[in-house]
Amino acid sequence: MTALSTNQLEAFWLPFTPNTEFKRNPRIITGAEGMYYRDQAGRKILDSSAGLWCSNAGHCRAPIVKAIQETAATLDFAPNFQFGHPKAFEAAAKIAALAPGNLNHVFFANSGSEAADTAVKIAVAWHRARGEGTRTRIVGRERAYHGVGMAGISAGGIGTNRRWFDALTFPASHLPATYNRAEQAFSKGQPVWGGHLADELEKIITLHDASTIAAVIVEPMAGSTGVLPPPKGYLEKLRTITEQHGILLIFDEVITGFGRLGAGFAAERFGVTPDIITFAKGVTSGTVPMGGAIVDRRIYEQFMTGPDHAIDMFHGYTYSGHPLAAAAACATIDLYRDEGLFERSAALEPYFEQAVHSLRGTPLVQDIRNIGLAAAIDLEPVTGAPGKRAFDVMKTMFFDKDVVIRIAGDCVAFSPPLIAEQSHIDEMTGKLAEVLKAAA
Ligand SMILES: Cc1ncc(COP(=O)(O)O)c(C=O)c1O
Repeated sequence: MTALSTNQLEAFWLPFTPNTEFKRNPRIITGAEGMYYRDQAGRKILDSSAGLWCSNAGHCRAPIVKAIQETAATLDFAPNFQFGHPKAFEAAAKIAALAPGNLNHVFFANSGSEAADTAVKIAVAWHRARGEGTRTRIVGRERAYHGVGMAGISAGGIGTNRRWFDALTFPASHLPATYNRAEQAFSKGQPVWGGHLADELEKIITLHDASTIAAVIVEPMAGSTGVLPPPKGYLEKLRTITEQHGILLIFDEVITGFGRLGAGFAAERFGVTPDIITFAKGVTSGTVPMGGAIVDRRIYEQFMTGPDHAIDMFHGYTYSGHPLAAAAACATIDLYRDEGLFERSAALEPYFEQAVHSLRGTPLVQDIRNIGLAAAIDLEPVTGAPGKRAFDVMKTMFFDKDVVIRIAGDCVAFSPPLIAEQSHIDEMTGKLAEVLKAAA
C-alpha cells in the first residue's frame, strides 16, 4: 500500500483535529488486530486507548467480524419505523440485561451524541406526558462531555465546544466539576474529597425551582476531560436529591459502559441506579456505529397509552437499531460474556493502577487519576501554548514509540482494550515515561 498523497488527504475535514498540521504529518492507520494497529509500512502500533474508548474487545475480533459479514449479506437494511427485524430486539434485550434495576427498554441511536439527545428528549417528553410540561431545564456539569449534538453543547461543560454555539443551546444549568487538584492530587480510584459538591444541585433547584427541571445528566466518571472519577458519596447524593425533587437522573455511560469500570455499567459498580443510561462505543466494540438510551420501565410505560394507530414518541433515526449494528452488538456482548472481559477488566485494575501511578515523579507529570481501566496523566503545559505539550507527546509516541495515545488538552488518557496483558500496560506507561524524560 502506498502512502496517501497530499491531494488525497485534502478532501477529508477531520473532526477534532488541527487539519493543516495533520496533512503535513499524517498519522494514517491501515489495519488493526487485537491490541495493535498497523500503518501502511506494516509497523505494529499499540492501541493504548481502545480506539476512542470504544474497542473494548480489541480489534477485528473474529466473532464480531463474522456477525457483521453475515448480516451484510442477508439483511443489509430493514426499517425500524413501523417494522422491525429480530437482531434489534435481541440486541435491546442483551443490553437491557446488563443494566440495573428496571432499566429495561432501549431506544437506539447511532452515536453517543445522539444517545444524549435521545435521553434528554425522552426526559422532557416524559414529564410533559405526565402533565408536568414546565420541566424542561437540564442540569449538566462543568467539564462534562456528552458529544456534540443539542444535549452535548447545552448540558456539556467544555467551553471550547460551547462558545461558538451558545445561541443554539437549550436552558441548562451546570454543577461544578468534581476535580480539585489541591484536594485530590494523585488519588487512586474515587477521591475522598468532593462528595459535598453534589449539594450544589440543591442551590440550582432553589434558584430555578424543581418544577422547571427535567433531568440531571452526568457521566459517572467524566472521561473525555481527563478521567475524573466521582468522589465518594457524590453519585449517591445526586440520586437522593433528584429523587426528592422528582427530577430524572441520567448517567451518560458512553465511555463507562461495557466493562471499562469492570462491570456492565458504572451504575452497577457504584451501586447507584439512574432513571436513564446512555451508551454507545463499547456496545459494538467500536465496529459499527451504535448508541442509545436505556430507560426505566415506568418511563417507557408512560408513553404506551395508545390509541393503536398513534406513534408514542416522535423521535428516532433512520438507522436506529440498524441490522449491522444490532448484529455487531449481539456478537460483542456475547464475546464479553464468553471471555469474561468485564471480570478481566476488574482483575487488571490493581496492576493498571500501580503502573500508571509509577509515573508519579516523572518529569512534567502534575497529577495522575485512575479508575477501572481508565487513567489520566496531567502534564505541565508549555507556557503560553496550552495543549502543545500533550500534542507533541502524542506525535512522539506515535512516530517514535509505536503507541497511539489519546490526549485532551495537556492530559494523556490511557484506556486500553479489556484484553490487554500486563506487558501492554508496561509498554504504554514505560514508553510514556521515556518520552516525558526526553521532553523535559
Ligand atoms: C460520555 C460521552 N458522551 C457522549 C459522547 C459522544 O459520543 P459520539 O462521539 O459517539 O457522538 C462521548 C464521546 O467520547 C462521551 O465520552
